[in-house]
Amino acid sequence: MDGNRRWAQTHGLPPHKGHERGFETLRKVVDWCKEKGVQHLVVYAFSTENRGRAEEEVAYIMDLGRKLLRDESPKLVRQGVSVHVIGDVKRFPVDIQEMIHDIQSKQVSNAAHHLWVAASYGGRAEILHAVNALLNKNASLVDEEGFTNELWTSGMPDPDLVIRTGGEQRLSNFLPWQTVYSELFFVPTYWPDFTKEVFEDILTQYAQRERRYGK
Ligand code: FPP
Repeated sequence: MDGNRRWAQTHGLPPHKGHERGFETLRKVVDWCKEKGVQHLVVYAFSTENRGRAEEEVAYIMDLGRKLLRDESPKLVRQGVSVHVIGDVKRFPVDIQEMIHDIQSKQVSNAAHHLWVAASYGGRAEILHAVNALLNKNASLVDEEGFTNELWTSGMPDPDLVIRTGGEQRLSNFLPWQTVYSELFFVPTYWPDFTKEVFEDILTQYAQRERRYGK
């Protein structure tokens, strides 16, 4: 969900206004996914590296996290959308950790849709977390499945497609293990301006790609 601050700058607004608009886009995209039958939506909301941003900006993004977990998630769960947080959740303020536990305890089994929020997430940190978990278990030989089970994303299918808004053409520590065969789409649109038309166009292009998985 890249481009929030540049969107704000373009409109002569402070950075947090970009995140506020970005939050609205996220709510809309969840609905579009439900409409289009996309069962799993993963969003990169806050990276390990984002912690280095100005204190007020980080505090504002944390407040959006609270809004999502406390106000939006119960509604989403009632609509059949399971909400999961993936990342180093121990680094969040205690009240957010409690909200994460609370929402996890309210998930419906076999939900039709899933929203996975990567927050306090870094792909390399996730891989190290899995390695250390395996070392703690004195594991000797580990296969792909055994490794995948130790990742924060355990239970989440690998992404079929990845969309990065905002014009940059890189993955920036987003799901390095899980995206090896994902189809990548880079769009110039800033996240707050991401529209249903752009989303539908990407789905159409995705349907035309031939996925060979190296075969
Ligand atoms: C990247 O744009 C966006 C973020 C670092 C924050 C994303 C947050 C939201 C979309 C709101 C939803 C939040 C939660 C916690 C659910 P950027 O700030 O890097 O923009 P830039 O590339 O223009 O600087």
